[in-house]
Amino acid sequence: MSVERTLSIIKPDAVAKNVIGQIIARFEGAGLKVIAARMMHLSRADAERFYAVHSARPFFKDLVDFMISGPVFVQALEGENAIQKNRDLMGATDPKKAEKGTIRADFADSIDANAVHGSDAPETAKAEIAFFFPEINIHSR
Ligand code: PPS
Repeated sequence: MSVERTLSIIKPDAVAKNVIGQIIARFEGAGLKVIAARMMHLSRADAERFYAVHSARPFFKDLVDFMISGPVFVQALEGENAIQKNRDLMGATDPKKAEKGTIRADFADSIDANAVHGSDAPETAKAEIAFFFPEINIHSR
């Protein structure tokens, strides 16, 4: 295991439910540190660029429409095995399939409105963190 960084987005549904703090508490409880954070309302162009890898998928427009439907809370997280740890905390993409006690099982309503995003691999984590945060705004402790 090594210390890694990963990108987390608390999506518009979870922001609207006022559970930002509860979600961050789960990261902190699992030993992940918030090393950068910002709240923002993504433009369509930003969301399309962020999810460009999924542009050919049938749900691309729904995904982008949802991600620009309200503000999101974006964080860089750091800790041992952070990428997998975050994905374990998140649970399966479809909340109906997510294990009990995971963020998506507890806070997500549907596969569209599924509460959180987390990077899936070291290269994507690096690119996704750089997408939102210049190095000067990352405060590794
Ligand atoms: S994942 O999390 O990347 O392994 O999941 P994947 O199934 O590849 O999905 C990629 C992202 O698309 C979202 N998604 C959907 N959005 C809207 N409608 C449908 N049907 C749908 N299916 C998948 C999924 O939440 C992933 O978004 P992120 O933000 O990466 O979690």
